[in-house]
Amino acid sequence: MKTVRVLTGITTSGTPHLGNYAGAIRPAIAASRAAGTESFYFLADYHALIKVQDPARVQRSTLEIAAAWLACGLDPETVWFYRQSDIPEIPELTWLLTCVAGKGLLNRAHAYKAAVDKNMAEGNDDDAGISAGLFMYPVLMAADILLFGAHKVPVGRDQVQHIEMARDFGARFNHIYGHAYFTLPEAVIEESVATLPGLDGRKMSKSYDNTIAMFADPGTLKKQIMALVTDSKAPGEPKDTEGSALFQLYQAFASPQQTAAMRDAFAAGIAWGEAKQQLFTVIDAEIAPMRERYNALMAEPAAIERILQAGAAKARAIATPLLQELRQAVGLRNLASVAPASTSVVPEKPALPVFKQYREKDGKFYFKLSHANGDALLQSKGFDNPREAGMYLAKIKAEGKSVWKALKEVAELAECVEESHVLEALDAIFQDAAEAV
Ligand code: TRP
Repeated sequence: MKTVRVLTGITTSGTPHLGNYAGAIRPAIAASRAAGTESFYFLADYHALIKVQDPARVQRSTLEIAAAWLACGLDPETVWFYRQSDIPEIPELTWLLTCVAGKGLLNRAHAYKAAVDKNMAEGNDDDAGISAGLFMYPVLMAADILLFGAHKVPVGRDQVQHIEMARDFGARFNHIYGHAYFTLPEAVIEESVATLPGLDGRKMSKSYDNTIAMFADPGTLKKQIMALVTDSKAPGEPKDTEGSALFQLYQAFASPQQTAAMRDAFAAGIAWGEAKQQLFTVIDAEIAPMRERYNALMAEPAAIERILQAGAAKARAIATPLLQELRQAVGLRNLASVAPASTSVVPEKPALPVFKQYREKDGKFYFKLSHANGDALLQSKGFDNPREAGMYLAKIKAEGKSVWKALKEVAELAECVEESHVLEALDAIFQDAAEAV
């Protein structure tokens, strides 16, 4: 089975609430356990800076959100769990994409357009108070996605346009530089996933200030639930499940049997106070064990930091070789690889063979050895892991020709190439590395 890469970012600008849990965390963790998927979940703290300019809040939110995902059962051993700002390749790729992104397309991004429309309605300058960060938001997000070759990006509806933009920028880059460097991602909108209502019945969202905190102590949780809006039907009067925020919340945490029983209780006129009590009971039953883990994690922020650092190293094992390849693609190259002009008085050293690593559409990692002029010498098979592919360069540098035996196992000669050509190339790389020391 072909592995599918699933990637999503969580902006670290708030405290996790039940809407985040049911709408994002719970389904994502369930999906991360499916066979044949590689899951990438990251804390989008660069994105947070667009909205939040209070440093303590950015830090606090990053900690809380990391702890929340871990407490809910995300396994950092089996997924890629990292913090965006630990991956310098993300801002680096952002710039490469910025240079192919159409400004006109960015002008049409919903979040930016909404801000402009608001200014216009208020008679302000179009761009009053709008940072270039907000404008560039979709490019940063495209870099997040394209850097890791994500096939699927689970997001809310409001983010679909951003995924389309990522496809657009990726496709342009591929076209301009003449190779499928980037996998073009697809948005996944989970219809079955609950969008929870908040305390006032509108969608639960920080911007409506109607959220129920995920890890509040049970007393606070109960108080919040008791404050949930309902209609004014008296105990004994039949109640509608349709349009009831209370019922929707209940359904998101209860078993199908419990939900069916609640439906009957509504018809039979259950008192709102009693229904809220039952809602509290189902929510607390699901949250309590996670709350305990959450509190333990929050008491040990250094442990979370270590987990994120390890996650960054794992992510960079993919990101670093790709960026190296992209730099090459756009012409940000080692100048020594260009044949010097013939007027040079410095004795010429023959240009070195090139060892290139890259990833193909099949998700595997390859290397290729070519003459300095680009003619292929050797082509590797696909490796599951970029380190495996990358290791061969280090070996050639250290051992020169004697690596050939091992190389033969994992790579094939290009057409019309003889073994002796490869041996010469290996020797040249070896000599050069020896001189460099
Ligand atoms: N913009 C996303 C949001 O607000 C968060 C995000 C940042 C993201 N980078 C991403 C989501 C990459 C998916 C993929 O929800």
